Amino acid sequence: MCGIVGYIGSAPHAYDVLLDDLHRLEYRGYDSAGIALVRDNGALVRVRAVGKVAALEEKLTKRAQVYAKLGIAHTRWATHGAPSVRNAHPHTAGAITLVHNGIIENFAQLREEVQKEGRMLRSDTDTEVIAHLIDMAYAQLHDLADAVRAVLPRLRGAYALLVIAKGDPKTLVAVRVASPLVMGVAADALFFASDAVAIVAHTHRVIYPLDGEIVVAKRTEGRVSYTITTEKGALRKHTPRVLKWDHTQAQKEGYAHFMLKEIMEQPHAVTDAMRGRLDSDNATARLGGLAPVEERLRTIKRIIIVSCGTSYHAGLIGAQLLQEYSGIVAEAVYASEFRYSNYLLDKETAVLAISQSGETADTLAAVREAKNKGVLTLGIVNAVGSSIAREVDAGVYNHAGPEISVASTKAFTSQLIVLVLIVLLLGRQRTMSVAMGKRIIRHLCAIPRLIETVCQHHKEIRAIARRYKRYDNFLYVGRLHNFPIALEGALKIKEIAYVHAEGYPFGEMKHGPIALVEPSLPTVVIAPRDSVYEKNLSGIQEIRARRGKVIAITTHDAVDIVKHAHDAIIVPKTLPVLMPLITVIPLQLLAYEVGVAHGVDVDKPRNLAKSVTVE
Ligand code: M6R
Repeated sequence: MCGIVGYIGSAPHAYDVLLDDLHRLEYRGYDSAGIALVRDNGALVRVRAVGKVAALEEKLTKRAQVYAKLGIAHTRWATHGAPSVRNAHPHTAGAITLVHNGIIENFAQLREEVQKEGRMLRSDTDTEVIAHLIDMAYAQLHDLADAVRAVLPRLRGAYALLVIAKGDPKTLVAVRVASPLVMGVAADALFFASDAVAIVAHTHRVIYPLDGEIVVAKRTEGRVSYTITTEKGALRKHTPRVLKWDHTQAQKEGYAHFMLKEIMEQPHAVTDAMRGRLDSDNATARLGGLAPVEERLRTIKRIIIVSCGTSYHAGLIGAQLLQEYSGIVAEAVYASEFRYSNYLLDKETAVLAISQSGETADTLAAVREAKNKGVLTLGIVNAVGSSIAREVDAGVYNHAGPEISVASTKAFTSQLIVLVLIVLLLGRQRTMSVAMGKRIIRHLCAIPRLIETVCQHHKEIRAIARRYKRYDNFLYVGRLHNFPIALEGALKIKEIAYVHAEGYPFGEMKHGPIALVEPSLPTVVIAPRDSVYEKNLSGIQEIRARRGKVIAITTHDAVDIVKHAHDAIIVPKTLPVLMPLITVIPLQLLAYEVGVAHGVDVDKPRNLAKSVTVE
């Protein structure tokens, strides 16, 4: 996830402040970094480097230290264009230099527009185009804030921007829409950042500008001041609030662990995964990464999804959805199995790899094996520019931002969103009706809000976790789209709480697992009210008849399930195909809370690595 920082002050410390702040944002994950300073004589100094902030520092120390009272800097986590110096921020166009965190949805159209104006774009980013638009406005308006204000209505998507102009060492303009931005207020300086972690080192007095608000920071006669206005120019008053966080808490934005922060980020992460990709008019999805192979996709009759761990569980759901809505024969296979098996692959088959890190050795090997056999390879990857992203023929990024905790949470839900988008695209190429496509899109748009509702049950789930923390074994069961969620719930509690758990299709109980049921084995039943409601209800009664405890993840209309379960977590309802996006959240929280109750270092559980780059 990109990080932006900015400084305007009466002392010439911009250079040191911004480099320190970039280090403080390193935990967010990034692939390149850059800084731009405006000296008192108006001259701009800009340096960018691929890799760590240390690489940027090295480049900078080759130049003399720059004394400046104004500057902006950036750590980039690539979304548009591979990690490289020319794609690194800050981006400059004419007099304007800026840094950006977010994604501009209509950037392709804006790019064309500025190119028609004779502007030469030097990067592949969605950001550079904003610099050109602001520069064009600045040439006419001669005022930085007015120029930024004039361009904002043209931008669709999410952004936090810090903008400076060559020749104006006294002004910094900041604005945000749907991307984080915080301003630190000190007596003689203002600090800007994507995240308060960079601010609390300087001051604990902060302002969080609201969506669409524009902050104009000025330095006049050694004093620093700011005004905050709406896009239309109306003045806004914010009283700074005082943060009591220390540095480590700030990195986690006040959450005890990255895992919890990432669980709570899911409404945002799933929004980013679908941002700019829904085409409601045509009831389909617009996936730029698949555009080069769109015609070839029409000829595909079979898809094999290869992945590991949590990504494999997303793949299981993806395979179900592909079959249901596109008529494509689909199956999910563990990448570690695929690479050593002899799957019959032909020209009508595609292999789709799913990976958060894009570096998982087994998944990468499966992609290479598929390529070797000449089939079309596709990817759903979170880490931009990673090995799998580079090696597949075409793919879609999740845009979930870096996942720091070893346990995958927001990557999983954003993978599911991308899978639904692919199903929309392939389904509409084949059998899916406009009405069905529109219905799915309508329900997809409501998902972030529904996830937020589930996150609000956190306390209640913590109480349940504390009641069940003494159990050594759990069963997780579900049917249809919720069977992979049972597997995912069991995996989460295994890795985070070191509790043994098994995931099963509920219908399999009588074929073995029911032998285990007794008072010391709780069963987590994922059973929203759906087409298999009665079956699930009978299953619960069978467990109860054997004095087994039942924790149900269900919906309010599943009245009898709620009645018969020992504990029930009620989640909101959506289309059955989208329910996994909702039912998985309480299971993530349950595993997290049991792990915390056991004193496990949940972000770094024993024996596990975030990126499994060896077999
Ligand atoms: O980076 P990937 O998605 O390829 O990783 C796959 C698995 O290693 C990963 O999902 C693992 O199972 C997680 N620890 C699950 O929380």
